[in-house]
Amino acid sequence: MITPEIFNQFVRSRRSTFPDQFEAGKKVDDAIVKEILTNACWAPNHGKQEPWHFTVFTDEGLQKFATYQSELYKELAGENFKEITYSKLQQNPLKASHIIAIAMKKTTNKNIPEVEDIAAVACAVENIYLSVTAYGLGGYWTTGGITYKDKAKEFFGLSEEDKLMGFFYIGHIAIPSSGATRKPLEEKVTWIKH
Ligand SMILES: Cc1cc2nc3c(=O)[nH]c(=O)nc-3n(C[C@H](O)[C@H](O)[C@H](O)COP(=O)(O)O)c2cc1C
Repeated sequence: MITPEIFNQFVRSRRSTFPDQFEAGKKVDDAIVKEILTNACWAPNHGKQEPWHFTVFTDEGLQKFATYQSELYKELAGENFKEITYSKLQQNPLKASHIIAIAMKKTTNKNIPEVEDIAAVACAVENIYLSVTAYGLGGYWTTGGITYKDKAKEFFGLSEEDKLMGFFYIGHIAIPSSGATRKPLEEKVTWIKH
């Protein structure tokens, strides 16, 4: 039975785990990833829009993603090109078991402001974070690399008006994260009682 105390501890123990902390080459079952994505789809969303869409890369798909993102970076970086960034974009995906490309699909309900669909997708990603934690796995959301490049949309089956919102890397944890902190609650919350 889940108690509030257990839930509080669980939510607060959720951490981002980065590719260098993953157990290289150890796969997560696709069935678990499907459960994680099912939880993502149970996120709150305004107007039953369910505006999220996920593309999952695993097995040979990881190399396909790595090649695509590093080559697009090379093509678009111009004089800002950095070899270290290029090689991270090539190599980091191969350290993961699964990579989920996170997207917001433009929906037809004009009464829902776009920011609310973006917020709903972020709620879905928090469900992914928590589900990954529940399975004892590691992962993190990255909005680096090609996330905000319009040209990248096509590769993920997105149209111009959709938004690519980054990538969620999943792997088995070899090196756990440590040292997380949060600011005091008083800095973040205002109570009005009178
Ligand atoms: C919208 C969003 C984008 C993020 N993008 C990146 C990123 O590009 N690179 C990165 O290393 N971490 C990224 N993160 C993860 C944060 O670094 C991480 O959540 C933060 O360090 C707090 O650690 P915690 O998740 O363990 O609490 C992102 C997180 C969010 C919510």
